[in-house]
Amino acid sequence: MTDISNRKDDHISLAMNAEHQGVAASGFDQICFEHNPLPELALNEISTQTQFLGVELSAPIIIGAMTGGCDNGDMINQHLAEAAEHCNIPMALGSQRAALELGLEQNVRRWAPNAIILSNLGATQLQQHGTDFAQRAVDAVRANALMIHLNPLQELIQPKGDRNWNKVLEAIQQCCEDLSVPVIVKEVGSGIGPSAAGKLIDAGIAWIEVAGRGGTSWASIEMARNESIRERQIAEPFLNWGMDTVALIPRLKQLDNNLKLIGSGGVRHGLDIARCIRLGAQMTALAQPFLEPALQSTEAVVEKISILSEQLRWAMFLTGSQNLDRLTVAPLITS
Ligand SMILES: Cc1cc2nc3c(=O)[nH]c(=O)nc-3n(C[C@H](O)[C@H](O)[C@H](O)COP(=O)(O)O)c2cc1C
Repeated sequence: MTDISNRKDDHISLAMNAEHQGVAASGFDQICFEHNPLPELALNEISTQTQFLGVELSAPIIIGAMTGGCDNGDMINQHLAEAAEHCNIPMALGSQRAALELGLEQNVRRWAPNAIILSNLGATQLQQHGTDFAQRAVDAVRANALMIHLNPLQELIQPKGDRNWNKVLEAIQQCCEDLSVPVIVKEVGSGIGPSAAGKLIDAGIAWIEVAGRGGTSWASIEMARNESIRERQIAEPFLNWGMDTVALIPRLKQLDNNLKLIGSGGVRHGLDIARCIRLGAQMTALAQPFLEPALQSTEAVVEKISILSEQLRWAMFLTGSQNLDRLTVAPLITS
């Protein structure tokens, strides 16, 4: 096993541990819909359908990026991919760096021939290896788009993490110009704020996945992996670093009303999905909530998606919203 696949195994087992979840409050519970005791709708008339990258989906839910599929990740990805195909929702791959560097077969299209598949690389891989590397990631899985993850805090705390972030924006811009598919940029739990979003929009990105604070804490996970007392001491004040998903979505929307947004980071159920849509996101992504079902079976992932969709439908019913467009204007209560 390589260093990268060992690291991925650590990440998967630590992400299952509640200690590394919700280290900072996500703020989702502060977003309260006005209850509508007169929905004037039947539950089965409600549609959660939406479009993403030109494709009709059953719900605005993306299976968030977790593994590129090496070693144990292959079984996880099989369950996630088969469920994405069955439920007609997109699946984001985790970093394909190891698979590309080791020349491993990437099997996701065997399990999800038609689903939207999103490739994934770290921004520093792009900075180091350029757009050709990204194109290889996309071609290997016939991806519909590339996700580039920004994770500077994680890299700082991670033993031997990438600490040179010069010219990352330039590499993203080049990638937007040359890649054969749209580029989505995401964080991993510290959020993308208006200043960075403005630069990314100018660079030509198609979508931003917010990935704000309050869900999986990569600072906490990397601190648990870091054996250096000195480095853990330095990292300690940054455990809560970052910006909340629910605060970021409206701010990014304000920055550019046409910006396509994926709400993520601490989304834990269908009511949180409804909250993201109400705040201005068109799509949502959940990573950690899919991990446990993905370790079990395809059926367990399908069941998870079905529960999330039904929770979203209930939130739509209780706000009298027949479709997602109506949900975007459902009244909120401010306390
Ligand atoms: C086990 C695990 C592995 C992850 N690996 C990646 C990755 O390779 N690439 C990436 O962009 N994000 C990765 N993430 C981050 C998620 O995609 C997501 O942005 C973050 O966990 C916040 O969402 P959550 O609170 O729903 O987990 C990973 C998350 C988990 C739980």
